[in-house]
Amino acid sequence: MIVERNVPLQPLNTFGIAARAGALVRVRGEADVRALLAQPELAPQPKFILGGGSNIVLTGDVKPVVLKVEVPGRRVAGETARHTIVEAGAGENWHDFVGWTLDQGLPGLENLALIPGTVGASPVQNIGAYGVELQDRFHSLDAIDLRTGELFTLDAAHCGFGYRDSVFKHAPAQPGGLGLAGRALILRVRLALPKAWQPVLGYLDLERRMQETGITQPGARQIHDWIVAIRRAKLPDPAVIGNAGSFFKNPTVTPEQCQDIIGRDPKVVHYPMPDGSVKLAAGWLIDACGWKGKSVGNAAVYDRQALVLVNRGGPERPATGGEVMTLAKAIQTSVYERFGIRLEPEPVVV
Ligand code: EPU
Repeated sequence: MIVERNVPLQPLNTFGIAARAGALVRVRGEADVRALLAQPELAPQPKFILGGGSNIVLTGDVKPVVLKVEVPGRRVAGETARHTIVEAGAGENWHDFVGWTLDQGLPGLENLALIPGTVGASPVQNIGAYGVELQDRFHSLDAIDLRTGELFTLDAAHCGFGYRDSVFKHAPAQPGGLGLAGRALILRVRLALPKAWQPVLGYLDLERRMQETGITQPGARQIHDWIVAIRRAKLPDPAVIGNAGSFFKNPTVTPEQCQDIIGRDPKVVHYPMPDGSVKLAAGWLIDACGWKGKSVGNAAVYDRQALVLVNRGGPERPATGGEVMTLAKAIQTSVYERFGIRLEPEPVVV
């Protein structure tokens, strides 16, 4: 285990925000974590776990010890009567892993193609797109306790999955509390891919592709390719313009609140949920307030998708975390004043 000091984090977050880590340790397996815990200087310090850096906003230098997760490996780990179990190291690139499963002839993850980040980050925010969420395919994960070095396995019921949420996003409220943020480092994730595969095609963007191409029964590879094309057309590529994907969660309201908004804004994009609540498109709300293309310093609202904030300054004059958060707060205020809805940021603000 090597401890790197005063490490620039700009290349390690997709927003491209400039900040430094006082100490950074690369974790390729449990031995690295145990070696860290054996060091009297570093062991007691708070830790910050960094995956692909695609869902964070850095608002300053990172004081906790940064653990950069680089655990490698992909394999078919077993099967049950109805599922094939695949496993990947937390440091594997998510999109490459999706491609690998398809290469093995194992469909099920195609709707989640091109989501930035690592396999280890996928359960943290329960990634989701085009009608599939990670929790729909999740089997279990191995993690290591950052205080004791003990290995443990969690199944879905213990991960507390919600919409872009899990136990890994919450700090333990009290000793013995359920939150695992900063406490557990995910090493390996296992997914259960259904042997009787059914395509998930309910999204408008996918229906449009089916109509355009006349392909009514697309295979998993075809769906994968469509999703890649759809995402490329509407989401900025972090390699070209820094961003952290959707910056706000889609808010949920009661049917009464939704009716009230429809009364004033008949075009509001809304989706009834199975539990009776209604989900509103945050991108639409922000767009309706006129934010597309607006900026604070070098932080800007993407001009093709109002849900995404981007770093307009590039690597030379990057937006600061302060600029991003000032812009985010101004958006929250204007959406609240017009619609009475509080938008919640999706990325983790560090
Ligand atoms: N809209 C506008 N103006 C905008 C943006 C959106 O009017 O500037 C409208 C769209 O026309 C559409 C609706 O709002 O009718 C919803 O927008 P979109 O289809 O782009 O998707 P979304 O609901 O905003 C969510 C996820 C994405 C995921 C897509 C596809 C959240 C916060 N975002 O976006 O996830 O890829 O659905 O399933 O749930 C991410 O988490 O980083 C992410 C990109």
